[in-house]
Amino acid sequence: MKPIILVLGASGQIGTELTQKLRLIYGNSNIIASDIREGNEEMMASGPFEIIDATDKATILNIIKKYNVTQVYLLAAMLSATAEQYPQKAWNLNMNSLLAVLDLAKEKHIQQIYWPSSIAVFGPTTPKENTPQKTVMEPSTVYGISKVSGEFWCSYYHEKYGVDVRSLRYPGIISLKTKPGGGTTDYAVDIYFKALEEQKFECFLSENTRLPMMYMDDAVNATIQLMQAKPEDIKIRNSYNLAAMDFTPKEVAKAIKKYIPNFKISYKSDFRQEIADSWPSSIDDSKARNDWGWQHQFDLESMTKDIFKNLKK
Ligand code: SER
Repeated sequence: MKPIILVLGASGQIGTELTQKLRLIYGNSNIIASDIREGNEEMMASGPFEIIDATDKATILNIIKKYNVTQVYLLAAMLSATAEQYPQKAWNLNMNSLLAVLDLAKEKHIQQIYWPSSIAVFGPTTPKENTPQKTVMEPSTVYGISKVSGEFWCSYYHEKYGVDVRSLRYPGIISLKTKPGGGTTDYAVDIYFKALEEQKFECFLSENTRLPMMYMDDAVNATIQLMQAKPEDIKIRNSYNLAAMDFTPKEVAKAIKKYIPNFKISYKSDFRQEIADSWPSSIDDSKARNDWGWQHQFDLESMTKDIFKNLKK
């Protein structure tokens, strides 16, 4: 039977593309997009859309009943840089939305949940290179604290109540359709737009700041693959490490120069440098690869090629 999916936070960076891919796979009318603001034209025209505050459990339940929803993808969240500015708001949004959805699954209103975690669960005391699945998690950001806590709640609800909740620790996600907002890895999106528009970019991270990254196509595919995997293949219920590539601002600038030879990058670190310095530079995602067959497609070169192909259109 086809799932009926409610996407909370559908108008955001990941939601915009994940929702359309889900509509392609399961049929437009089976994917209910929702957010506190409307999505892009394509989303609004292609299937159902509801205005929902992701922390409002009663409204979520109404919509679940209205459409006979079987799965919820909870993508609404405040990202790392903004969360440092609004700690209380970030905690409220990131945590109460998750607890609402976990409770709805515990109460048997839905069968399956997807909730993203992040490389932000790691902190300055975590091994930086090839960061293992199971390691020290002492985040130094508000966002990271909310994600680590969320991971514990996910495994708790799975253990205690048998809730089928699945999660990935996304690296920085690079995409074109909808820009991310308030993240530390956002520079890796802006740099492509600025390269094309102005042939120059001022980076808020220093040139050798290495971070794990992923192209949106891979992030969307990983998410859907995880949700389609047999329950017995999901051996980790807090959240899976997930990786594709890692690079520094200097390296991405070099990749861009192949297409825009005049491109110039300058560096001016701000408060986001400290956040980036607390995160891993590369991730060991062998558990995801072994348990449910994760394989990435895009590296820095192939992603850059694809981005310029699409941006020039
Ligand atoms: N991309 C996110 C951020 O920078 C990390 O999950 O906040």
